[in-house]
Amino acid sequence: MKYYNSIAKGYEELHKEEQQEKLKIIKKFLKVSKNTKLLDVGCGTGLTTSPWRCKKYGIDPAENMLQKAKKKYPKIIFKKAKAEKIPFKASFFDVVISITALQNFQNIEKALKEIKRVGKDKFILTFLKKSSKRPNINRLIKKHFKVKKIIEETKDLIYIIIP
Ligand SMILES: C[S@@+](CC[C@H](N)C(=O)[O-])C[C@H]1O[C@@H](n2cnc3c(N)ncnc32)[C@H](O)[C@@H]1O
Repeated sequence: MKYYNSIAKGYEELHKEEQQEKLKIIKKFLKVSKNTKLLDVGCGTGLTTSPWRCKKYGIDPAENMLQKAKKKYPKIIFKKAKAEKIPFKASFFDVVISITALQNFQNIEKALKEIKRVGKDKFILTFLKKSSKRPNINRLIKKHFKVKKIIEETKDLIYIIIP
């Protein structure tokens, strides 16, 4: 968390364009409507939470990233929490996304179980393909979700989990 707290100020300047490229691809597969409830796990500064036209929620444990998100997007519900313990009821969300965050989680399997618990049947999970945890994350996602498609993007692997 220390790392993300320390880079919060310059995060968007550093990563905005590449995250927008990922979102462009994801939007081809994931359609939302104004009543869709969407959770962004590891939402950071809200870059990946804000572009959806629906009811948006984000969680992240890094206080400084969340502060930026709250200030920039006051209508989105942001909570300080870890993916390993998501503070929402089972099946609360129509869609759960997690963009370039999985490789940072302390307990990836616990987090994936939590993501599955709070979601219904639509999930988009991406992580850095250069991560040394790549084989393990790939195995765990396939263990817990029915993956429809895996897209190899410039920096991330994008797992599309939709019925
Ligand atoms: C590369 S940033 C991605 C942020 C945002 N999704 C984006 O694409 O701009 C990774 C985020 O994962 C968060 N993170 C680290 N450990 C986490 C955990 N255990 N649960 C949830 N988020 C975590 C970090 O605080 C950071 O904001």
